[in-house]
Order: sequence, then C-alpha cells, then structure tokens
Amino acid sequence: MTHLVTTPDVIAHAADTVQAALDGRNPTVAIVLGSGLGRLADRVTDAVRVSYADLPGFHVPTVEGHKGELVCGTLGGTTVLMQSGRFHMYEGHSASDAVLPIRVFATLGIKSLIVTNAAGGIRRTFQAGTLMVISDHLNLTGRNPLEGPSLPGETRFPDMTVAYDAELRQRAKDVAAAQGITLEEGVYAGLLGPTYETPAEVRMLERLGADAVGMSTVAEVIAARARGMRCLGISLVTNPAAGTFAGVLDHADVMAVAAEAGKKLAGVVEGVVVGRRS
Ligand code: HPA
Repeated sequence: MTHLVTTPDVIAHAADTVQAALDGRNPTVAIVLGSGLGRLADRVTDAVRVSYADLPGFHVPTVEGHKGELVCGTLGGTTVLMQSGRFHMYEGHSASDAVLPIRVFATLGIKSLIVTNAAGGIRRTFQAGTLMVISDHLNLTGRNPLEGPSLPGETRFPDMTVAYDAELRQRAKDVAAAQGITLEEGVYAGLLGPTYETPAEVRMLERLGADAVGMSTVAEVIAARARGMRCLGISLVTNPAAGTFAGVLDHADVMAVAAEAGKKLAGVVEGVVVGRRS
C-alpha cells in the first residue's frame, strides 16, 4: 500500500485557514474528542466553529459519532481548540493524514494535547463507564505517522519514554478525586480496526500488558511527541473487551455508553484545563 505523507504545504495552508477563522483567539490546549464524546464541544463559550469541509487536507469523517469540525472557545477560563471528529486509519487514511490536525495544532503553537477515546476494557475489573488515564501505549496498528521524510519541526526519532506527561496525568487524577470520580490508570493498545478484537486477540493483548484497547490515539500521540507537545490521554471504557463477557459488541452500544459516561469524562477534561495557560 502507499503511505501518503502530508506535505508541509498542506499543514501550513490548513493552519493559516484555522488561524484566520479563530479571529484573534489564541488556544493553548487542543482536545481531541473520541467517539460519541462530542458534547464537550457544547460546553465551550464564545465559540467559533470551522468545518473540516473548509480546511485544506481535512477529510469529512464517515463514522457515526464523529462530527467533522474544529471548535475554538473558552473552557474553564482557558482558550481551547477542540477536534470534534477524527480521521481513522481504518477509514482508509494514511497514518500521516490521520494526524494532520495534530500537526496543525502544533503549527498554531499549541503546546498541550488532550486526547480522549472510547475503548474496550481488557483489565478484568474494568466495566462499561470506567475512565482510564493512559500511562503508556502499545502501537499495534502496524503504521507510524512519522514514516517518510522528516517534516520541518519534527524530531526524527522521538523519545517515547514519557509520551504521556506525568504532571498532566497527576492533574487528571487530582481533578477526578476532587469530583468524586474514580480514574483508573493503564496501558492503551492501539489497533488498526475496524473489526473489534477476537477473544484470542484480547487474551494476547492482556498478556502483552494492555489494560484497554481501541482504534485511535497512538498515531496522534506519536505525532504530538515529534513536535514536543505534552500529551494527556483518557480512555472511556465503553465495554468489556470481546470474550471477557457473555455478549457481543455493537457500535450503537459503544456510543450509548460514551454519551452517558462522557459527562464524567467531560468534567475531568474541563477540570484539567481550568486556569491553564499551556
Ligand atoms: N475494541 C476496540 N475499540 C473499541 C472498543 C473495543 O472493544 N470499544 C470501543 N472502542
């Protein structure tokens, strides 16, 4: 397969278009909203919305639960830029295309990235609705967004020892504790999808040390680290992973849980950004 690489021109053009649309707003934190978690975008005040259709290089999402717009405004006193709708690699996008928004955020000078996702719970104690702050990840997608020529401003060989920022993780834990919300911590395994896992794959992931599994996030965090951004990742466990419970998986159930438990996640994310400058 060909691995299309986003060119510096496309990134610059998209960043210029976003900058013009922001009308003087100066976001310091970017937030990627996972499946069904788009409602956090409704909590932003003084919002400006930019449709992906108006952004060079951006694709309109094809997956239910993913909107396709950037929303910039104020959340908890901080100017944030939210990505409502992802480009997943399973939709046919190259890893490089999938992380175009992250590269645009970095070009706009954003230093902190908060990534949310819906995930299957591998750790046996995780139930539908569990929140997990990501301590580390397994990139099992078979892709890497940095493949190809090194782009200006990106580290060729990014260190991934502390891909998920320790201070932001602690902040998320403190915020959750103050809100009376249980926040677990664990390793996220990113797979290509779009199939959910087989029970045998889930047993494999368990042995590899994964606590949750999903189809996003790892490429975004890799791209963010290549630009030196600080990353926080929070998974909303929408279901126990395949084979660990007596049932089958359905995207509609995943979305229903995400919509409900998404309120808790929204509260934690909002708490993390309150009063932040970067
Ligand atoms: N597996 C992968 N991705 C997911 C799952 C799952 O069980 N649930 C929500 N996203």
